Amino acid sequence: YVIGVDLGTSAVKILLVDQNGQVCSEVSKSYPLIIERSGYSEQNPEEWVEKTREGLAELIQQFEGEASDIEGISFSGQMHGLVLVDENHQVLRNAILWNDTRTTKQCGDIYETVGKQKLLDITKNPALEGFTLPKILWVKENEPEIFARASVFMLPKDYLRYRMTGQVHMDYSDAAGTLLLNVAKREWSQEILDLFGLTQEFCPALVESHEFTGNVTAEFAQATGLSEATKVFAGGADNACGAIGSGILSEGKTLCSIGTSGVVLSYEERSDLDFEGKVHYFNHGEENAFYTMGVTLAAGYSLSWFKDTFAKEENFEQFLEGVAEVPAGSNGLLFTPYLVGERTPHADSNIRGSFIGVDAAHERKHFARAVLEGITFSLHESIEIFRSSGKTIDSIISIGGGAKNETWLQMQADIFNAKVEKLSSEQGPGMGAAMLAAYGSGWFGSLKECAEAFLQTAKTYKPIPENVETYQKVFGIYQQVYT
Ligand code: XUL
Repeated sequence: YVIGVDLGTSAVKILLVDQNGQVCSEVSKSYPLIIERSGYSEQNPEEWVEKTREGLAELIQQFEGEASDIEGISFSGQMHGLVLVDENHQVLRNAILWNDTRTTKQCGDIYETVGKQKLLDITKNPALEGFTLPKILWVKENEPEIFARASVFMLPKDYLRYRMTGQVHMDYSDAAGTLLLNVAKREWSQEILDLFGLTQEFCPALVESHEFTGNVTAEFAQATGLSEATKVFAGGADNACGAIGSGILSEGKTLCSIGTSGVVLSYEERSDLDFEGKVHYFNHGEENAFYTMGVTLAAGYSLSWFKDTFAKEENFEQFLEGVAEVPAGSNGLLFTPYLVGERTPHADSNIRGSFIGVDAAHERKHFARAVLEGITFSLHESIEIFRSSGKTIDSIISIGGGAKNETWLQMQADIFNAKVEKLSSEQGPGMGAAMLAAYGSGWFGSLKECAEAFLQTAKTYKPIPENVETYQKVFGIYQQVYT
C-alpha cells in the first residue's frame, strides 16, 4: 500500500491506495482560511499538521493490515504559500497563501529590480501576487523583526513533510512557483537571490518529486499509528500531482481541472518554448519534464457563488437540472467569470464579472447554463494560447467539478473543439501523490507505467459540429467583453 496526502486550501485529503491503484480508504479533514482583512488569506501551519495527524490516525485505525504494509507516503500541496521558520525550525508567522493578493506593490518592485524579460528568461513566469517571492518581500518590508529571525522558507507541503521526517526539502515542481528557481536549469537562481539580498541557505535543498526524503519519525509514528519503516517521498505541487493523477505524462496530453479555480494544463517535454509569460510554465512532478498552465481564478467558485446566492437550498444536481434543455449559447445570455479578478489571459485582479444580453424570456436555467459556458470560455482562452503557439490540442482529460455533469462535459468538448475524456475513478492530486509514492517505492519503472496500471478512461465526449460553430461565434463576443 501507499498513501497520498493532498494538502489543499480547504482540507487535507488522504488516500490509501493498493498495488492495483484502487483507493481502499479515504479521509478528509477541513481547516479554515484566516482572512484578517480584504485580500489577505492565511493559514496556521500547525493546523495542517494536526489535521493530517488526525486523518492519518483515522485511516490507520480503519486499516485491516499491518502499518508496516504501507510502504510509502507522498504529498500534493497547495502551491506558492509562504512558511517562514527560525533557526530551530519554529514557525514565525501564519503562512501567506496562494490566493492572498496583498503583494501588488512587491510584484512591481520585482519587475523594477530584475526586469520583466530577465524574470521571464530565468523563472519562465511573470510576477503575480500569488507567487512566493512577492510574499517574502512583503514580510521583509512590513515585518522586518520577523524576517530577521527567518532562517529558511518552505512551501505548505514541505513544512508538513518536515514535521513528518525532521528533514527539510523542496521539490522542483513546487519550487517553480516561487520565482526564485531557474526553471530550465533546475537550480535556485543566484542572480535573483542576490538582487533581493537572499541566500542559498534560505532555500531548501531541491529534490525530485519521487525522491526519498526520510522515514517517518518515532514521534509522528506514535501520534498516527504509521510505521517508522514507511518511506516518505518528496511529492509535488497540486497541479503537477493533478497532472500525474490524470496521466498527463507525455507531449500532446492536456488536462482541464475545475475546482474552486480552474486550470488548463499541458505537458511540455521542453523548457525553451516562449509563451511570453501568458501562461505559467513550471517543472512537472516527472523528472526533467515541464507543464504550461492557464488559470481561471473563479471557475467552480462562479458556479457555487451563483447557486448559493440564488438557490442555496438546492444541491448541484437539482440546480443544474434544466441546463440540458437550454441550447448552446444560452439564447444570447453571456457570463464572464471575473468574480475575484482573473489570471489567464488578463492577469488583472481588479476586473469583475458580468451577465450580458439578459432577455425577458430568460429563466434561471439560462443563467445557470450561461455560468457554465462563461467558465468554460475562460478556460478556452488558455487552450487558444496553447494552440496559437503551434500546439495540437485534440484530446483533453477533464477532472474535478467539471467532470461531474454530463452536460458540462459535452459543453467542454463543444467549446474546446476537442475530444474530452472522463476517468473512471478520479482522485486528482491525491492520486498523483500516491503514484509518486508507488513509483518512489519501486513498484514501477516510471510514472507512465504506473499511470497505465492505475488509470482508466470511463467515457469520451466528442464535439458536436453544430454546437462547435455556435460556440465559436459566442466565444468571439466573449473575448470582447474584457476590453
Ligand atoms: C497555481 C495556483 C493554484 C494553487 C491551488 O498557480 O495558484 O492552482 O496551486 O492550490
